[in-house]
Amino acid sequence: MRIDILTLFPEMFAGVLGGSILKRAAQAGVVEYHLHQLRDYSRDPHRKVDDRPFGGGPGMVLMCQPLFDAVSAIEQQSPVTATRVMLCPQGRKFNQALAAELAAKPRLLLMAGHYEGFDERLITLLAPLQVSIGDYVLSGGEIPAMAVTDAVVRLLPGALGHEHSAAGESFAANDGTIAGGLEYPQYTRPREFAGLAVPEILLSGDHAAIEQWRAAESRRKTAARRPDLLKPQA
Ligand code: ADE
Repeated sequence: MRIDILTLFPEMFAGVLGGSILKRAAQAGVVEYHLHQLRDYSRDPHRKVDDRPFGGGPGMVLMCQPLFDAVSAIEQQSPVTATRVMLCPQGRKFNQALAAELAAKPRLLLMAGHYEGFDERLITLLAPLQVSIGDYVLSGGEIPAMAVTDAVVRLLPGALGHEHSAAGESFAANDGTIAGGLEYPQYTRPREFAGLAVPEILLSGDHAAIEQWRAAESRRKTAARRPDLLKPQA
């Protein structure tokens, strides 16, 4: 997969893309990241990318020209069709099912705004998939773009090492695609810490019983904390 990220702050991505699984996936050839500075596409002598909103009001709005030109130029860098994703609080709520949908695409173009919204005509012209990572407002789409990148890349075949698996985690069904409920509780050594013992069953070596216990714990935890996940998915 190729992931293009268009942002005013490409440097924010270095730590996230340069560490852990996102880095390893790139090293393994599973994914390529291409960061693009939106300002590089501005035709303004001062590299301006935003302006005051028509009709007044606070804040600034990302202008059409830089983003529109950036998207055409970036898309031409590869013949593979990019799925355009715009990060914004008005978007479709990101979840594991959407991560799996995006993981099936050969190329993503993530567009992150900062401080401001996008001129509405960009949405009409580019027809991006608008994605929100939750009902709260961040200062920009960079952290949402990182969250989407992380959730998507770890689903790509070969991204996780043998010691990891995306299936069986919270929200992952057996195929890693749909909400399957919360993960069961995990324990590691020592067997007792601060007077708290590991559940006996996990030390029993009885794998069938352990599977049953884990499934029951998973259901119990999901019912208690996230009953919405047990309802049929929309
Ligand atoms: N930009 C600002 N807040 C956001 C959010 N919650 N999701 C996606 N993009 C955003």
